[in-house]
Amino acid sequence: MTKKLFIKTWGCQMNVYDSARMADVLAPLGYQPVDEPDGADMVILNTCHIREKAAEKVFSELGRLRQMKDRKAEAEDGRMILAVAGCVAQAEGEEIVARAPFVDMVFGPQTYHTLPEMVAKASRAAGSVLNTDFPAESKFDLLPEESGAQGVTAFLAVQEGCDKFCTFCVVPYTRGAEFSRPAGQILAEAKRLVAGGTREITLLGQNVNAWHGDGPDGKSWGLGRLIRELAEIDGLERIRYTTSHPRDMADDLIRAHAEVPQLMPYLHLPVQAGSDRILAAMNRKHSADDYRRLVDRLRAAKPDLAMSGDFIVGFPGESDADFAQTLKLVTDIGYAQAYSFKYSSRPGTPASVEGSQLPEEVKEARLEALRQLLDAQQIAFNHGFVGRSVPVLFDRVGRRDGQLLGRSPWMQSVHAEANERLLGRIVEVRVDAARANSLAGTVVTGEHTTAFPFQPAVTLEASA
Ligand code: 5AD
Ligand code: SF4
Repeated sequence: MTKKLFIKTWGCQMNVYDSARMADVLAPLGYQPVDEPDGADMVILNTCHIREKAAEKVFSELGRLRQMKDRKAEAEDGRMILAVAGCVAQAEGEEIVARAPFVDMVFGPQTYHTLPEMVAKASRAAGSVLNTDFPAESKFDLLPEESGAQGVTAFLAVQEGCDKFCTFCVVPYTRGAEFSRPAGQILAEAKRLVAGGTREITLLGQNVNAWHGDGPDGKSWGLGRLIRELAEIDGLERIRYTTSHPRDMADDLIRAHAEVPQLMPYLHLPVQAGSDRILAAMNRKHSADDYRRLVDRLRAAKPDLAMSGDFIVGFPGESDADFAQTLKLVTDIGYAQAYSFKYSSRPGTPASVEGSQLPEEVKEARLEALRQLLDAQQIAFNHGFVGRSVPVLFDRVGRRDGQLLGRSPWMQSVHAEANERLLGRIVEVRVDAARANSLAGTVVTGEHTTAFPFQPAVTLEASA
């Protein structure tokens, strides 16, 4: 008998990947994904702990779900198994069990391969099953093969966890130590994805460019080498990877940007701040100029590389002068797109006990100023494409009839009127209009005329 499974996912792409894998683990038990929680036999909240109010959001969602669970029981329609997974479960598992005893399972990101046992336990007994271990075995060795086709674009987790211990960040505590999956396992998963119709793979990891492993040739591989090998897979047209740390940008990975045509010209490379004092307090282990030099080298390898990043404003002790350095760095680099956040104190992290926490209004004002600058850069970047033609991999139908959606190599979302048979194909689209977050275009046939319009600002003279 099939049972209905609803998974709600918060947070990063790794969580999206994990949710899909949880569904794979549960499929042999008869669970099939559904689009809404009401009436479901199992509801999993796959949570994120990286920024504020994560736990509150989970508790308010649990309040709603509890009513659905009760309704289902009253209607004698079986039991709704309620689960909290992900990083909030890892960080606050015991509190969840104490505050919401109607939750049946609470488990962290490293244990979901044991879901069948947890479900069996939860079905037998009242009370919550809590599993926030960091087991010695790797879940990747024990997960079933992913279920068939994942879509035109797919995520593939190659690395997980983090040993960097930035002083603001919970990831080293919730995801655990850095771990790289073996190359053979990754290549096999990639081949299965491509055989199932996937044309673009995004390699995932909290510190994806720290990936390393022994290749089938017996040599030690880094991410650049892995990407070269993936590029040999027939039918895999595009490769991306996220998220990277500046310290792990190896020469071979930079060269791969120059040499591997399938590797897309877009890089998410968080810097967090532009002041060396703040970068040191964040334990980033690089300076602002290290980052500038790195981006120069990347652009020397791949002149049309579109840069993306993450920024935190209002880190404890950040002065106006420090913040001005962040704006300066953004101006120097020229981002195609970026994420910016107000510093949020996370329990258990070193920065949370700093005495010099900043007032909310200061954080708010800095965030607003930074966003204005980043938005202006993004709009300028997108406007530079109007009138040009870009290769778009269509991966979804649009909201409007007859419209398809896809991405340019530079990660811009592009929509155009197009026949559904173009789904999964890379098609030349002439850009007619640019908005902050997307491009609108017309499918063209004929020659590829993409020229990169964006002139990155000149950075360090010394490194030119
Ligand atoms: N406060 C604000 N932003 C944070 N991030 C991580 N931890 C915090 C925090 N405590 C941001 C960083 C990171 C991104 C995923 O989330 O910019 O790169
Ligand atoms: Fe967090 Fe820093 Fe690790 Fe990124 S590198 S996951 S910000 S600790």
